[in-house]
Amino acid sequence: MKFAQKNGRTIPKEDKIFAINGRAKAMIAEKGKEKVINATIGALLDDEGNLAVLSSVMEGLKLLKPNDYAEYAPIGGTPEFKEAVKKALFGSYGPKRPVEICATPGGTGAIRNTISNYSKVGDQVLTSDWFWSPYGTIAGEIGRSIATYPLFNEKGTFHLDAFDEKVNSLLDVQDQLVILLNTPAHNPTGYSLTEEDWKGVIKSLSQASNKGKITLFIDVAYIDFAGDEEAYRNFFPLLERLPKTVLPIVGYSASKTLTLYGMRVGAMVCLAPSEEVAKEFKQVTEFSSRGTWSNSVRAGQTLFSKIFQEEELLKKVTQERSQYREMLIQRGKTFENVLRKEGVENVPFDAGFFTCIASDDPGSICEELEKQGIFAVPLAKGVRISVASISEEQCVKTAKAIAKIIKG
Ligand SMILES: Cc1ncc(COP(=O)(O)O)c(C=O)c1O
Repeated sequence: MKFAQKNGRTIPKEDKIFAINGRAKAMIAEKGKEKVINATIGALLDDEGNLAVLSSVMEGLKLLKPNDYAEYAPIGGTPEFKEAVKKALFGSYGPKRPVEICATPGGTGAIRNTISNYSKVGDQVLTSDWFWSPYGTIAGEIGRSIATYPLFNEKGTFHLDAFDEKVNSLLDVQDQLVILLNTPAHNPTGYSLTEEDWKGVIKSLSQASNKGKITLFIDVAYIDFAGDEEAYRNFFPLLERLPKTVLPIVGYSASKTLTLYGMRVGAMVCLAPSEEVAKEFKQVTEFSSRGTWSNSVRAGQTLFSKIFQEEELLKKVTQERSQYREMLIQRGKTFENVLRKEGVENVPFDAGFFTCIASDDPGSICEELEKQGIFAVPLAKGVRISVASISEEQCVKTAKAIAKIIKG
């Protein structure tokens, strides 16, 4: 550091994924688009490699007036936006607990505000060993760090015992614990907690909650790309079984739901155990918002509200998204099937933008792939493939290439 302060952070010179993406782009420029498979991008692309944009959402955008863009939004979000978030997030579920909402710039803002308000400086925040790397960045930026438990047991299901053990050991040394649980369609594995997994989590937290305060942050960024929209919301009623010393906060993002990453629409939603906790949630999250991004994008909130207020428009958006979702699910299944046929397993995968192949040497696999014009991301525990950014045909080619490298 020449002038800036490190403050305990590890700051790489260049973002790893952007660097790989840069190499993919350079190869496209040199050899042509058809010679390159870029499985690094964390956004949904159509089969031609163009960003999947919902035309119905763009139609909604045309309803906005100049003031919808220009005016500040209230710090915690507009009232219409909060109503729309409830509808979008909960579907047919009607929460019996006090609900409070704070608008955030994407799901990222919800993660930041949860860690900053419900853990102390120096605390460890718990997530699984496969995790979205910005969790570490966000925690590190505000003086916290990440602790992990193995996501999968040897049977290839959710490692509840490891989860339980880590929750308890952290609460032996901390009075409070924030847990980041990314489901359904977890990034980067594509795993979704089953109902049985959920019941185990609820039981574990209920028992551990006499040791300290637990904030369970459920990151549902990919909920509308996992499969049946109602079925994947089945876990909500289970959260009401949690005792008073556990606070569930849901991190919602419209980045994926509306394929509208740049508009920064998101929210944090608490299912508070009491009115006092809900009131406090509003107070602390708005305070934090004021001290970071001030308020979130009004145009995004207005657009989101309009979509959920206008039945016809909502129908169109839902329909259009479900077509893209089917395309994505098909790609994931094809990738998994081809890989399996070749005798190689990916990590337990249900749905979503990504899947992974566990490896002790992901760097070498990615290097070999790059030689063949296939770009993927080496993570600490394996290779990440974005099925969101490649066509079904490219999924077949990529799975075959990976299998060949692994089998030697
Ligand atoms: C696991 C996970 N959580 C949250 C987000 C939040 O995204 P955004 O801030 O764009 O809403 C993402 C985006 O990639 C993600 O992968």
